[in-house]
Amino acid sequence: MKIIKVKNYDEMSRKAANIISAQVLIKPDSVLGLATGGSPLGTYKQLIEWYNKGDIDFSEITSINLDEYVGLPDTHEQSYHYFMHENFFDHVNVKPENIHVPNGVAANMTQACREYEELIKKAGGIDLQLLGIGTDGHIGFNEPDDFFEPLTHVVSLTESTIKANTRFFDSEDDVPRKAITVGIKTIMQAKKVLLIVNGKNKADAVKEAVCGKVTPAVPASILQLHPDCTIIGDEEAFSKL
Ligand code: GLP
Repeated sequence: MKIIKVKNYDEMSRKAANIISAQVLIKPDSVLGLATGGSPLGTYKQLIEWYNKGDIDFSEITSINLDEYVGLPDTHEQSYHYFMHENFFDHVNVKPENIHVPNGVAANMTQACREYEELIKKAGGIDLQLLGIGTDGHIGFNEPDDFFEPLTHVVSLTESTIKANTRFFDSEDDVPRKAITVGIKTIMQAKKVLLIVNGKNKADAVKEAVCGKVTPAVPASILQLHPDCTIIGDEEAFSKL
């Protein structure tokens, strides 16, 4: 794991955007695994800024998002479809047909999971996977468990994730209880992984993920075994390392 300690959220976002830009510059048809949440917002903002200046071109990339809430239609303001369009896709030149987010309202979720896996395979796998981390150590929506779930699957969210994500909804009751997420194997098969993390509330999760043993009880700990994983974190997030 390569650890990059930065001062604050802005520096984290700039550095992450730099790594993504470099990836797209070197391989314009990169397959980018993208994430939602507060962590990558600044990164997307920076990428949009550079796109507007003409410094980066997304016209050939394919994007494959990590996860989506089950039961929220694309139009719901808290769906990850909506988030990605609002905060990134609608501001850059990614081709609509190259945008992929798991379908949280599929009539047959098992089939939707299988199709998402096929899609990733067909795209040739993920070149660069951007990740955030949950306070319980989850990546994507791979929650702490007794085993690593390898492929795209439906997951029941933990109490801690529901609580953490309540800030985006009117009340805790409105937070969906289930989500669809790509699995650990898919994340681990990405050629590069870039985890960004900020804030004191993530310090324990970061400590467990980086210094603890590799265990499905802390899903992010598996990243210790990834051959090309970079973690960019601010001083607060790294305060317990
Ligand atoms: C959410 C998402 C994750 C995200 C994590 C942290 O539940 N499913 O993909 O990385 O929690 O979110 P945030 O960046 O808002 O702290």
